[in-house]
Amino acid sequence: METIGIAITGSGSALPATFLDNQGLTELVETSDEWITTRTGIRQRYLAKAGESLAELATAASSQAIAMAGITPQQLDLILLATSTPDDLFGSACQIQAKLGATRAVAFDMTAACSGFVFGLVTAAQFIRTGVYENVLLIGADILSRWVDWQDRRTCVLFGDGAGAVVLQANQSDRLLGFELRSDGTQNDCLNLTYTPEFTELIPGVSVGKGNFQPITMNGKEIYRFAVQQVPEVIDKALFRANLNVEEVDWLLLHQANQRILDAVAQRLNIPEQKVISNIAYYGNTSAASIPLALDEAVRQGKIKLHDIIVTSGFGAGLTWGAAIFQWGR
Ligand code: ACO
Repeated sequence: METIGIAITGSGSALPATFLDNQGLTELVETSDEWITTRTGIRQRYLAKAGESLAELATAASSQAIAMAGITPQQLDLILLATSTPDDLFGSACQIQAKLGATRAVAFDMTAACSGFVFGLVTAAQFIRTGVYENVLLIGADILSRWVDWQDRRTCVLFGDGAGAVVLQANQSDRLLGFELRSDGTQNDCLNLTYTPEFTELIPGVSVGKGNFQPITMNGKEIYRFAVQQVPEVIDKALFRANLNVEEVDWLLLHQANQRILDAVAQRLNIPEQKVISNIAYYGNTSAASIPLALDEAVRQGKIKLHDIIVTSGFGAGLTWGAAIFQWGR
């Protein structure tokens, strides 16, 4: 069988209208701009209003990506929404499909927390490589502000809301050069957004667990250690699969979780600072959205050029982590 390549041909991003800077957070919890900036690199984050939906943000980002790719929504075969915070637990991808008018596309959600975009990229690539689909829209979008405990200073300073999207297309040259994905459920309790059921007896002997999801809990130190240790390793593995040396990499595009994590990973890989893409100061950790948001920004700023080699890596709850190496454009 003839192998089919993949190219990322369009990107887009969208943010809520309102932002909250570090100073504003000091009115909520005992913290300081100095602590947040030095420990995380974050200066502000965008937060979705009560009425703003994930589907709306994702649709705005998607429309830009589709336009850049030069296709119409009707040409899309598949829409993949990577999110942990859908508007509806049954999924939000179909709402986006309807809003876009992508009538031919099958749409579904997938959850891999902050690794969602990288896992989605690889998933989308499989559908293209097998020849099943030609045009795939991949969205990474999250509204974690809905699930943050705004009284918990260890977590509330970190997260922000946003959406990013890319269009992947079948292509003669394969621009996805290598990848590696990992999971470790034994460390699941490091980062959770858990459902807590309450015992509800329907009739004697038959009970159900009706309840709610609880705010995010995180062991920050463990997650930090995990990221700094595992991310360079998984990137090395993906580079090996791509048959590339680290010197050949043009851009390091990591999940924007903490500037210190970005710096430590770059240092371990011997990648100079000027190749590291960072916008965490303005957006905080936007979970599945962070990589496509930063990608779109760098593309539109003209930093990322045609066929530049980009190393991307997502990591987070699950625990999940992964890396993908790709070249920008057709
Ligand atoms: N303001 C002021 N002080 C604070 C704050 C705050 N916002 N938060 C914590 N502190 C205090 C702590 O209480 C502690 O005080 P103590 O020594 O008196 O107990 C002190 O600051 C140091 O706290 P640490 O937790 O040791 O701080 P650390 O340097 O580890 O930084 C951080 C914490 C920023 C959370 C870091 O561990 C980190 O970035 N971890 C990775 C988190 C991450 O990336 N998570 C997302 C994964 S993505 C996903 O899947 C959703």
